[in-house]
Amino acid sequence: MTTAAPPFVLLASVGSTGRQLALAAAVRVLGRRDVELDHEPTGRPRLRVAGSPAGADVSISHCGGLAVAAAVRGRRIGVDVEPLAGIPARSWRYFLTDAEAADCCADTLRAVWAWTMKEAAYKAAASPAALHFRQIAVHGWDSGAPQVRWPAELTLLPEVFIRRHAGFAISVVLL
Ligand SMILES: CC(C)(COP(=O)(O)OP(=O)(O)OC[C@H]1O[C@@H](n2cnc3c(N)ncnc32)[C@H](O)[C@@H]1OP(=O)(O)O)[C@@H](O)C(=O)NCCC(=O)NCCS
Repeated sequence: MTTAAPPFVLLASVGSTGRQLALAAAVRVLGRRDVELDHEPTGRPRLRVAGSPAGADVSISHCGGLAVAAAVRGRRIGVDVEPLAGIPARSWRYFLTDAEAADCCADTLRAVWAWTMKEAAYKAAASPAALHFRQIAVHGWDSGAPQVRWPAELTLLPEVFIRRHAGFAISVVLL
């Protein structure tokens, strides 16, 4: 059996800024060094080459001194990082549906993974203003590869990748 490499570059470091990692990841996916990073008015990071769209997307997250960035060519991407520590069950109702909360009772760390998946999906989304935590639903835990489902009008299907790194949960969502 062969396992295909994920179609994105993910970098994590305690000694770099998110911006530095985002540019390094962008250089790797584009194969050129003259890429620049700025932000859309929403705060979403954006890659440019010679003032034009670079044809690649990037996302940034920071938590507890760890910076993370992910870049992909020809698609949209979102990344989020959180410590792999429990989120108190009393807070679940703010971001989990009843079905998700039931799934998280079986393994409370699922709530952290769900949070990172939802934030990564939000960052990847083309029109995040319309999205709320409970509209992005995490399902499929028992398959070992949980996925996210969101409103049908956001026609692109989110593809989820999860990684553990030094006590942190990192989720990447591709559109
Ligand atoms: C913007 C937001 C996603 C940032 O997440 P965070 O957990 O606070 O912080 P993180 O460190 O993970 O991410 C910060 C990075 O997000 C990026 N970001 C900011 N606004 C963004 C947006 N609208 N879309 C995508 N990425 C954005 C930036 O790159 C920022 O890093 P930078 O300023 O160094 O470039 C978050 O503050 C937010 O507003 N979330 C929306 C809440 C919500 O309703 N979520 C629904 C999810 S279901």
